[in-house]
Amino acid sequence: MSKERILWMATRNKNKYSEAKNILSSMGVTLKILEVNRVEVQADDLKEIASYSLRNLESESRPIIVEDAGLFIDGLNGFPGPYSSYVLRTIGLEGVLKLMKNVENREAKFKSAVAYKFRDQSTCFLGVVEGEISTEIRGSQGFGYDPIFIPGEGGGRTFGEMSPEEKNALSHRARAFRKLGEWLLTRN
Ligand code: IMP
Repeated sequence: MSKERILWMATRNKNKYSEAKNILSSMGVTLKILEVNRVEVQADDLKEIASYSLRNLESESRPIIVEDAGLFIDGLNGFPGPYSSYVLRTIGLEGVLKLMKNVENREAKFKSAVAYKFRDQSTCFLGVVEGEISTEIRGSQGFGYDPIFIPGEGGGRTFGEMSPEEKNALSHRARAFRKLGEWLLTRN
C-alpha cells in the first residue's frame, strides 16, 4: 500500500465509516469513503459476502475495503445472520424482540468481516463480540441493532446506551478493523 497509509472504504453507511475511521486513525491509517454501489451476494458466510463485493471495484490505483456485518442469535440458530439487513428493514427491532419472546437462550454474537484489496493482493479479517439480546429496546446511540444488543463486557448496557468510544472499545467492527490495522502496520 502507499506510504501515507490511506484506505478507501466502499460504504454508504456513515455510522460504520465513522467507527472504522476512529479505530484506524488511532493506528495511523487514514480511512476515506468511497461512495459506490456495492454488489452484495446472499451467502451464509460474511467473509465471502465482503470479499465478493470487492471483486467489481477498481483496486489498481488505491487500496479498498468492504465491511459486512451481521447479528447471529443462538436461540434462533444464528438467525438473522447474513439476512440482518433485510430483517431490520422488514420486521425491525420490535419484530426481532417478538421472535425472541418464548426463546430462553438470548445469547448472540455480532460479527464483522473486513475485506481488503489492492492490485493483486487481497485478504479478509473477522471480528466477533459475544453478548445477548435485551428484552426491550434501550438507548438511542449507534445504529441498526445497537439498542437490543448487550455486549458481554459492557456492564449490562446495550450498544445503544454507549458512547461511540465505549462501543469501539468492545465491538465486532473495532476488532476486525484493529486486525486489519495491525496487518497493514507490519507491511512496508
Ligand atoms: P451490513 O449488511 O453490514 O450493512 O449490516 C447488516 C445489518 O446489521 C444492517 O441492518 C445494519 O444496520 C446492522 N448492523 C451492522 N453493523 C451493526 C452494528 O455495529 N450495530 C448494530 N447494527 C449493525
